[in-house]
Amino acid sequence: MSATDLAARIDRKSLAALRVREETAFAARTPKSRAWLEAARASMPNGVPVAWMAGLYRHNSIVAAGGEGAFFRDIDGNRYCDFNVCDLAMTMGYGPQPIVAAVSRAVANGAHFLLAVEDTRSVTEELARRVGLPCWQFTLSASAANTEVMRIARFITGRTKILIFDGQYHGHIDESLVTKRGNDTVPIQLGLSARTARDSIIVPFNDLAAAEAALKSHEIALVITEPALTNCLLVEPEPGYLEGLRALSQRYGALLCLDEAHTFQFAYGGLTGSRKLECDFVTLGKGLGTGISFALYGMTRAIADVMEKHLDSDIGLDTGSKGLATGGTTYGSAIAVAAAKAALEQVLTPENYERVGHLGNALADGLETVFKKHGLDWRSFRMGPRAGYCMKPDLPTNAAEASESMDIEMIDTRRVFMANRAVWDAVVSAGPQVSFAHNAGDIARYVTLADAFLGEIVR
Ligand SMILES: Cc1ncc(COP(=O)(O)O)c(C=O)c1O
Repeated sequence: MSATDLAARIDRKSLAALRVREETAFAARTPKSRAWLEAARASMPNGVPVAWMAGLYRHNSIVAAGGEGAFFRDIDGNRYCDFNVCDLAMTMGYGPQPIVAAVSRAVANGAHFLLAVEDTRSVTEELARRVGLPCWQFTLSASAANTEVMRIARFITGRTKILIFDGQYHGHIDESLVTKRGNDTVPIQLGLSARTARDSIIVPFNDLAAAEAALKSHEIALVITEPALTNCLLVEPEPGYLEGLRALSQRYGALLCLDEAHTFQFAYGGLTGSRKLECDFVTLGKGLGTGISFALYGMTRAIADVMEKHLDSDIGLDTGSKGLATGGTTYGSAIAVAAAKAALEQVLTPENYERVGHLGNALADGLETVFKKHGLDWRSFRMGPRAGYCMKPDLPTNAAEASESMDIEMIDTRRVFMANRAVWDAVVSAGPQVSFAHNAGDIARYVTLADAFLGEIVR
């Protein structure tokens, strides 16, 4: 059966009717949130501190009241088992005790000094051991980490262009908020620099010939990719692909960054450490902080030497000899260090990764059982704790193929259907994500709801 035939099994009329029914029910469950958001528009656009909080959902948004473990509550008193986990920024769950304790101590002990604290080395040395790159720097976000990686790569190579992959997301930075239009690369959002966009070259993932054609220009400073694309559902690297990319980047004088802002939560040591991948930089962030904003990037010793040689010293004069443009006054605080140390030592342990890997598999198995029950020749995405709905018998090898499973109407309806039944589903670009706080009962609940949802719309 073709993908179109499979998609045709969804009864679009039932889906549309279900959406209206569920959105009406959701609005009736969340009157306080609606009133609060409306009143808040007087002091914040859309009533939210960050526009994304309104833009990510097409149903009424809600106002959060608090969370514990795998659950959070809204101000109307509804409770949700969370499979979105803040788009992987909360993969350790809400209020994990070791991190609460460590961060509370760090805040009480002065929080930040614009100096290293002794505990910093336990984080960087542990990351070196797990990931395989020896040297690390902190930033406040994965976006900022990727920005610094690009700057360092540009300086080292003396080139400006960045090679990225169709379906990528590396943060809200001008170089990667881009798309291909004909032979050009153009911004995909408003307010971005068209000139910077032209510095990015986009090729399909899992296509070494396309990467080589771009690299042959000898203009590429940095190749940056997630080791598995996680922002267009899930696209896994084909065997040998990442190794091939590494070889090509070296052959043509570009540096390679593996962005593990998401995938570090998928396997102990991330995919870089667990699969022994070679690269020049690795980016981490998001779920590592369980809501405490920080990120890190790792680098080779050779790159660390360049950073040391070109230190940006604050002598206040434009002497023409300023160093590398990295850093920020709130980066690398004692709070970030405390959160990272507690996470690595007490939550992100080999045993816990194994446990959530099993839960992720159980979720993927459960979804595949449900697909079969409804006569759908679909697959579940699966990688550690990540699952999802592949609406075809074959998993995608690139973003174009993955987009065939991004049925926005269905995903939007599913998430409000689930929200009315106490489950907070993933946003459109992702898939249900098992957090370190979930248990087998939570997985069973999700699968039961997926079954009920498909029962409403499959003909
Ligand atoms: C792979 C990847 N890199 C970087 C980022 C940017 O993270 P942040 O928004 O925390 O800067 C994201 C965010 O989703 C991401 O998925």
